Amino acid sequence: MKSSVFTGLFCLLPPLAFAAPQDISFIDRRGAGQFQQRACATGTDNWGNCVEADRTPITVRASANDQDDISAELMEGMKKANNGGLLHLEKGKKYIIGKKLDFSFLKDIYVKLDGELKFTDDIKYWQTNYFYYPFQKSITWVVWGGKDIKIFGTGTMNGNGQAWYDGFAGKEILDESNTYYRPILFVTDNATNVEISGIKFLNSPCWSTFMVRTKNVAFDKCRFDSASNNKNLPKNTDGFDTLNVDGFRVTNTELDVGDDCISPKPNTTNIHIENVWCNNTHGVSMGSIGQYPGTLDYITNAYIKNVTLLNGQTGARLKAWAGEKVGYGYIRNITYEDLDIRNTDQPIVLDQCYFNVKSDVCKKFPSRVNISDISFINVKGTSSGKRGTTVVNLKCSPGAECKNIKIQNVSLESPKGKGVVVCDNIAGGVGVPCVSSEEAAKKKGSSGKREAEGNDSEENEDEDEGS
Ligand SMILES: *[C@@H]1O[C@H](CO)[C@@H](O)[C@H](O)[C@H]1NC(C)=O
Ligand SMILES: *[C@@H]1O[C@H](CO)[C@@H](O)[C@H](O)[C@H]1NC(C)=O
Ligand SMILES: *[C@@H]1O[C@H](CO)[C@@H](O)[C@H](O)[C@H]1NC(C)=O
Ligand SMILES: *[C@@H]1O[C@H](CO)[C@@H](O)[C@H](O)[C@H]1NC(C)=O
Ligand SMILES: *[C@@H]1O[C@H](CO)[C@@H](O)[C@H](O)[C@H]1NC(C)=O
Ligand SMILES: *[C@@H]1O[C@H](CO)[C@@H](O)[C@H](O)[C@H]1NC(C)=O
Ligand SMILES: *[C@@H]1O[C@H](CO)[C@@H](O)[C@H](O)[C@H]1NC(C)=O
Ligand SMILES: *[C@@H]1O[C@H](CO)[C@@H](O)[C@H](O)[C@H]1NC(C)=O
Repeated sequence: MKSSVFTGLFCLLPPLAFAAPQDISFIDRRGAGQFQQRACATGTDNWGNCVEADRTPITVRASANDQDDISAELMEGMKKANNGGLLHLEKGKKYIIGKKLDFSFLKDIYVKLDGELKFTDDIKYWQTNYFYYPFQKSITWVVWGGKDIKIFGTGTMNGNGQAWYDGFAGKEILDESNTYYRPILFVTDNATNVEISGIKFLNSPCWSTFMVRTKNVAFDKCRFDSASNNKNLPKNTDGFDTLNVDGFRVTNTELDVGDDCISPKPNTTNIHIENVWCNNTHGVSMGSIGQYPGTLDYITNAYIKNVTLLNGQTGARLKAWAGEKVGYGYIRNITYEDLDIRNTDQPIVLDQCYFNVKSDVCKKFPSRVNISDISFINVKGTSSGKRGTTVVNLKCSPGAECKNIKIQNVSLESPKGKGVVVCDNIAGGVGVPCVSSEEAAKKKGSSGKREAEGNDSEENEDEDEGS
């Protein structure tokens, strides 16, 4: 029988007689009083904690307007609900956060978000008050950490991104000199067991989520949107990013975010992505990894199933850094299965010349990220034609080992002609006929039909915003 931690909330329950085996009565002699109570009368959740029905909801004051910062009240509410309780942020109410919040102390909490948790767009404040992660100079306004954290409901986390999109216009996140930091909407750090379901993530200033040093995090039935109301498009508004995470699930989720849909980053293991829909994204990427000099990065054991990728720059992608001062590592045991990829510039791609590196530099300082045991199974759809007839583009670095990379039952059409599979430096081939990138370029040259819009020069292929 698992042990539970009880708070005063449960002391209000009368002692009851019951027979169900999961029920326990006990005497708490630790406190000032002596309580007899019944734990988890209705049942326990997947972590052995009480289910929602056995938690008495507490609430906090909602904001009266968009300037009414209730961050102090929210902190109080989280503390009260911690250790077995439930904080309810109610439907139709808005909760404005204008101060940074450290929720790293959590232990068995349910946050039922039916209303809207909205962040102020006080750029001046947030750019001097944040939690900082050296990885790609990431910042956030709230850190969620601890153990057994559920966030669920029908509500929204609103990053209020428009002012940030306007402020960041013309800048580049991976530019060494960039100091215009933008908060990530939702961050977990040093957390174990996190479940988020039903929540809408809206207009994040930067990445929508970032899980760091986290074990077992699962998103289900969520929706992500980032959109601008003017010409300053959202940038780097990835759906999901991770760092040092073991156990990462995304299921039954839709995203329309304008950058990576889902992109596990260094040291992410045991990934499960299923029934996901991505529109206008850079697809489901493993990486980028291998960015930092002297640093070993890896991504292993991912299963990606039944994903729809529409109108994207890339579909299923593996990406690793090359250049003089980068790291090394490996990507291993990744299966993509049942993908529907439509109108996408590069439906399937292995890019080991990331990010914004000239091809001669990649030749001189090739990526040292090994890639092995990768399958693309049952993939159908269309490319946009922006890359000519190339639909699969697997260019392994000459500085790395690439083996056991298989393409099976992949049927991708290009509007420019029969789909071409390109592969370089892959031991044992890819299971289907493929041409080297050199041959592909030659063919294109000799046919004399270089597409006006398509630019298959080796360098700077995407207007990728990086990360
Ligand atoms: C991580 O969280 C645990 C409690 O869950 C805490 O004891 C530990 O100090 C935290 N570690 C770091 C590095 O913050
Ligand atoms: C595949 O995912 C979509 C959501 O993108 C879902 O509607 C559909 O039911 C899933 N198919 C299967 C066989 O689970
Ligand atoms: C997907 O994105 C396109 C723009 O690229 C948009 O026209 C379309 O409405 C979106 N589809 C859905 C179902 O939202
Ligand atoms: C990944 O894990 C390795 C080995 O534990 C560690 O040395 C490296 O710093 C980690 N990478 C990042 C980016 O944290
Ligand atoms: C490969 O990854 C899958 C998860 O997708 C896992 O079930 C399997 O055990 C892994 N294989 C190895 C050899 O680690
Ligand atoms: C990559 O593969 C090569 C050749 O097998 C090996 O020497 C090297 O250690 C591997 N690198 C990593 C990071 O596993
Ligand atoms: C090939 O993939 C398609 C979907 O793209 C699927 O309908 C079909 O059953 C697959 N064929 C085999 C033999 O698995
Ligand atoms: C192709 O891209 C290269 C490098 O970005 C650029 O120099 C060249 O002008 C482009 N060519 C066309 C036809 O767009």
